[in-house]
Amino acid sequence: MSVPQPPEPIPGARLLFSLDPAVSYLNHGAFGAAPIAVQRAQQRLRDEMEANPLRFFTQGLVDRIAHTRRHLAGFLGADPEGSALVGNTTTGVAVVLQSVGLKPGDEVLTTDHGYGAVTLAIQRECRRSGAVNRVLPIPLADTDEQIVQAIRAGLRPGRTRLLVIDQLTSVTARLFPTAAIVAVAHEHGVPVLVDAAHAPGMLAATVSSIGADFWAGNLHKWGFAPRGTALLAVAPGWRDRIEPLVVSWEQDAGYPARVEWQGTLDYTSWLAAPTGLFTLRSLGVDRVRAHNSALAAYGQRVVGDALGVPPAQLPDPGGPGVSMRLIPLPAGIATTIEAARALQTRISERLAAEVAVIGWNGRGWLRLAGQVYNSAGEYERLAVRLPALLAQR
Ligand SMILES: Cc1ncc(COP(=O)(O)O)c(C=O)c1O
Repeated sequence: MSVPQPPEPIPGARLLFSLDPAVSYLNHGAFGAAPIAVQRAQQRLRDEMEANPLRFFTQGLVDRIAHTRRHLAGFLGADPEGSALVGNTTTGVAVVLQSVGLKPGDEVLTTDHGYGAVTLAIQRECRRSGAVNRVLPIPLADTDEQIVQAIRAGLRPGRTRLLVIDQLTSVTARLFPTAAIVAVAHEHGVPVLVDAAHAPGMLAATVSSIGADFWAGNLHKWGFAPRGTALLAVAPGWRDRIEPLVVSWEQDAGYPARVEWQGTLDYTSWLAAPTGLFTLRSLGVDRVRAHNSALAAYGQRVVGDALGVPPAQLPDPGGPGVSMRLIPLPAGIATTIEAARALQTRISERLAAEVAVIGWNGRGWLRLAGQVYNSAGEYERLAVRLPALLAQR
């Protein structure tokens, strides 16, 4: 079976990053990778902070944070007044969970494509409040219509107090029909929290077009921001009810300042985040999206072919722009989280390739990302060497 052509490389893009040239870095989705310009912008801000910490923190920092928030919210199509900068999606989710006021007997509805740490946060909030977490299984091969239908059937109006869905899932790299799901939930009076950890920079849909009550996404993955930069967007009716995880001097200032200000922290990642968007824009946002999703699709096909997976069995990401793809591993390999982690480490150590290995629903999967610094040859080398590694069990 012939493999489609890889996309044209974006000239010079690799040189914008400080990644180890000896490693094929095929897992941008995990922790991102900040361009050199972004690292330098953050270092300059840290130099400024260390030159006079008192001045840095007390003269204009709150305004600089607000200005940055407006810039990032504008890029994402979110209402700047309803957005708050937070350290990461995990934090954004935790802020929402503790603010929605779950009560005994309430239900938080999730799917089996949810991110592990978010699931643990939901479970803890349910234990604290007496609510329950019900998990809807969604088969990987389901169409968008089937996903919306399954969620519609799973809602229990009057009981389901919150629906938590992923815009793009981490474990299955599946784009969910998020706006349609939100519309269905709202028809039934159920608020929705969208875990959009991978959306900023990768996906074109604006936050406003999704219409969720709560949306949390990382700028430090596909938005090229320094690690520790995420945006929480909250619909108008909820803003007064949002409580920060940590009470600070800005508590009485209300949302978003009370969520953003968390005492003495290093806020330079937020202030340097616009440099990440500048890098993305100067490469061409649409060009980067088209390149990355085509390269991930190419990687999926070459590695899938090497493992003998027919193209029809390679999961479809469900929409344009998705820059991560799954490949099923042979039966019995990496079926648990522990086994998946061990295999990921072996691939890193023996093949000098960083990939995500995922144990999901009793099956092992490889998740490959495409980014501007990757080349077709990196997936081809992995494809040549992976079958022998998997054979040595
Ligand atoms: C779907 C999803 N949700 C949440 C997170 C958590 O992101 P962070 O660790 O930046 O809080 C991730 C991280 O990969 C993710 O993929």
